[in-house]
Amino acid sequence: MKEKLEAMKAQALAELATVGTEKEVQDLRVKYLGKKGELTGLMKGMGSLSPEERPLIGQLVNSVKDTLEEKVEAALAAMRDSDKQERLRIERLDISLPGRRKAIGTLHPLTIVIQEISEIFSSLGFQTAEGPEIELDYYNFEALNLPKDHPARDMQDTFYVSENVLLRTHTSPVQIRTMLKHAPPVRIIAPGKVYRRDSDVTHSPMFHQIEGLMVDKNINFGDLKGILTIFINQYFGSGTSVRFRPSFFPFTEPSAEVDIACVICKGKGCRVCKNTGWLEILGSGMVDPEVFRHVKYDSESVTGFAFGMGIERIAMLKYGINDLRLFYENDLRFLSQF
Ligand code: FA5
Ligand code: MG
Repeated sequence: MKEKLEAMKAQALAELATVGTEKEVQDLRVKYLGKKGELTGLMKGMGSLSPEERPLIGQLVNSVKDTLEEKVEAALAAMRDSDKQERLRIERLDISLPGRRKAIGTLHPLTIVIQEISEIFSSLGFQTAEGPEIELDYYNFEALNLPKDHPARDMQDTFYVSENVLLRTHTSPVQIRTMLKHAPPVRIIAPGKVYRRDSDVTHSPMFHQIEGLMVDKNINFGDLKGILTIFINQYFGSGTSVRFRPSFFPFTEPSAEVDIACVICKGKGCRVCKNTGWLEILGSGMVDPEVFRHVKYDSESVTGFAFGMGIERIAMLKYGINDLRLFYENDLRFLSQF
């Protein structure tokens, strides 16, 4: 009996060492320790033992049973643990990885510049006006004192849609549209797209301007200079070098163009400023009486000034951008810097 028990125990332990799954361990348990298992079978033989032997064998049975139970439990625990480790390995979540950020869009640099400039002029009492990009020759040229055969039309190479319809070459037609609708005083800015047959590092066939117009009693050239100087100092900083240069526009008299020291080369001269050290940002002047005549303003009682600035040029100066075309290429590496 004793030998049989020892043999069974050895056999059971040997089998246990080879099983691989939880189910096999459970089967093994049933096979040896179950109600109809081998141990129970052996115990049936106890009746034939002598009274002296019986307690000893009884003890042995219990110890074998305990040992096997223990080993089976240990095997199960080890398996569950390795299952758990395996699951942890598979389901591993590395919480130290940086999250995937949603790419947030940014405003286009030209939009930002238009908003910033509009804010400065708004604080000076200017309202915003708008006009169409497909414009009549009349508003773009004629009413601005540029009759059909006027040589100054050549200053702006025009995209014509038909004889009398064109893509506006500047925002100045908004002056006419505004004055036709409103009696003086007028104080507006008009941002928008304009089109010319022009293309290089400082010229693009489509670009943006902001028109400005102020008409009231007693407006003079000092007001023009004052407003533009306030604007430039606010926008570029009070130390900015500015120069007013006499110029010509058929719709203003006198006229001036305004240059700012080139920030790309700090005034030394580069391809952006065409080696002059200056970049022209706007044209301006006192509204010509001929323009007032077209919109039926009395030039004896009101005077005014107007200006038209190039937004791309201003954005280039503000952000140190050396090629205007960067604004239109939609390269995210460029755009996301703003
Ligand atoms: C005009 O367009 C006038 N209408 C400005 C004006 C308004 C004068 C009111 C007087 C009174 P000009 O062609 O110089 O002027 O253009 C004005 C500004 O637009 C220039 O100073 C420049 O900064 C910008 N600009 C002109 N052409 C281009 C271009 N092709 N690409 C980018 N910017 C340009
Ligand atoms: Mg010019």
